[in-house]
Amino acid sequence: MKFFIDTANLEQIREAQDLGILDGVTTNPSLMAKEGISGKEAILKHYKDICEIVDGDISAEVLSTTYEEMIKEGEELAAIHPNIVVKVPIIKDGIKAIKYFSQKGIRTNCTLIFSAGQALLAAKAGATYVSPFLGRLDDVSTDGLHLIQEIRTIFDNYGFETEILAASVRHAMHIINCAKIGADVVTCPLPPILSLLNHPLTASGLEQFIKDSQKMQ
Ligand code: E4P
Repeated sequence: MKFFIDTANLEQIREAQDLGILDGVTTNPSLMAKEGISGKEAILKHYKDICEIVDGDISAEVLSTTYEEMIKEGEELAAIHPNIVVKVPIIKDGIKAIKYFSQKGIRTNCTLIFSAGQALLAAKAGATYVSPFLGRLDDVSTDGLHLIQEIRTIFDNYGFETEILAASVRHAMHIINCAKIGADVVTCPLPPILSLLNHPLTASGLEQFIKDSQKMQ
């Protein structure tokens, strides 16, 4: 399973990269705005900076919602670096844009997926990734993991190569359950990834080993 970091914060991206387990980065307009990035030049530069830190797939989201504008914007984003994956919302024009990009060899991440039908359409159009938003479904009392399972079954039934990128992942159990289901990728901020390290028996065991090691010196 691939681990992507879900942030536009360069420090957090560097910290995750230093861990040695990072496979890519996802961003969205809210995460970019949070870092104070605004204006076309600044946006393109920020994605370039991310590509220089991480050698893996970097999702860059289009801001427009019409077919023509998404094509123009997506081609500009894809030209930044070969690792850029154009992130496109699951709307009618988005599906048309994904089809266009896939024929042009531009990789895509279809975002804002909240149903199996949406994931199926995106895969049919040739999306490289689909991003079901696990945590946001849980937020409205709907089982997000069930959606990941449904998409896994559908993609396996028909041999779709589109990868399931579990997004809106909030905690360690989301990551573990996504791994059990067979999501291809999880994306989340750094804290849920680091929380996978935690176990009280590891902490107390290490404390004891350090104490005993002093008797050996
Ligand atoms: C990633 O592609 C999504 O934009 C992101 O995971 C959404 O996460 P959130 O629901 O925590 O905002």
